[in-house]
Amino acid sequence: MTILYEPQPRDAQRVAVLLGGDVHPAAAREDLSRLLAERPAEQLVVLGPGVELPEALAIASEYRLSRPALGVVLIRVMVDMVLLGEALRAGVREVVPVDDRVALLTACARSVEISRQMAPVSPVVPEQAGLQQEAKVITVFAAKGGCGKTTIATNLAIALAAGGTRRVGLIDLDLAFGDVAIMLQLAPQRGIANASEFGAGLDEQALRALFTPYSPGLHALLAPPGPTEAEQVSQQLVTKVLGLAGGMFDYLVIDTPPQFNEHVLVALERSHLHVLLTTPDIPALKNLRITLDTFDLLRLPNEQRLVVLNRSDAKVGLTAADIERVIRVPISAYVPSSRDVPVSINKGIPIVADSPAHPVSKAIRDFAAGQLADTAASKPTSQGLRGLFGRGGKR
Ligand SMILES: Nc1ncnc2c1ncn2[C@@H]1O[C@H](COP(=O)(O)OP(=O)(O)O)[C@@H](O)[C@H]1O
Ligand SMILES: [Mg+2]
Repeated sequence: MTILYEPQPRDAQRVAVLLGGDVHPAAAREDLSRLLAERPAEQLVVLGPGVELPEALAIASEYRLSRPALGVVLIRVMVDMVLLGEALRAGVREVVPVDDRVALLTACARSVEISRQMAPVSPVVPEQAGLQQEAKVITVFAAKGGCGKTTIATNLAIALAAGGTRRVGLIDLDLAFGDVAIMLQLAPQRGIANASEFGAGLDEQALRALFTPYSPGLHALLAPPGPTEAEQVSQQLVTKVLGLAGGMFDYLVIDTPPQFNEHVLVALERSHLHVLLTTPDIPALKNLRITLDTFDLLRLPNEQRLVVLNRSDAKVGLTAADIERVIRVPISAYVPSSRDVPVSINKGIPIVADSPAHPVSKAIRDFAAGQLADTAASKPTSQGLRGLFGRGGKR
């Protein structure tokens, strides 16, 4: 989790919100020293606009020598070349202007990435030390469009990354009409479609460069800008990408199109958990029931299914009990409806980051912390799944 040093409480609050809420605040230099001493594996310190420049430079110089893997990101009201030069010479990794959320998150993500490369076995995930553990793979699916798949997938990914505590790869498998880039305000300069350019040479290093950093711990593999480029992505390529990405992150969160296509099948068979979304209306419930029947047919294990009722409080005459009776599966999480969700999407800042205390954010964070993060990963099933669809993996 990021440490934020900012003496002014209001600025501290503002920057904490920009960082997504998951920060250890330090109001004085002594707090900063204590927090760093308590957290020898910490990888990032953000110095707020209220830290005087000489003090900020002194902090950067001190830790550059004593803890080279610790990144320092500095926020300034005014950024000019002289300041930038001084800061970089002192060992600050990045300087970002105040209130520029995208610049701040990208700078933090780049810095954490550098720290991770300096310390190959991530010290913040102790259970991983010495183990080549595979990521827990979570696919978010609904056979009907507009249920909130992309909304939930992006917010879950932010919640799971928990301010850099975990490494999360968010993969947009809605190849033709992917919305992850737009929801996170990322430019799709590179993404999954570029993986095909490497042919058999695609390896972890090449794939790493195709991910776009979003915030500490969270990197996104974006869908191409349009359907034409999407056609370059074969089923085999998705299999290879998911295999490699599994070794690079603690969690993979996969967003999907509203249909069982060959790419979705690869994701489903490689997943440890299937987050199945629905809304409290008859067409969505009918589609979820058909989805569940299809999952049975595909022999995807029951215990990997987690049904999430989105817009759970919509007053439409169906109770949770009615819904559970129709779908014959218990509901694992309830995400309320709020106009703040489309407002956050239009702002380009997912609600979990923009407004961590909002009831929608709280529902998503509780679900991530309770049912996704800590459940033991059961093995993904993969026998003959694609064969049932008669495609056999050729393309
Ligand atoms: N809990 C919610 N409350 C209000 N609006 C929501 C909620 N979840 C999703 N939406 C809205 O529904 C629309 C579709 O969501 P999206 O995530 O794009 O769905 P999908 O990816 O399943 O097609 C978006 O405009 C989004 O703002
Ligand atoms: Mg979508």
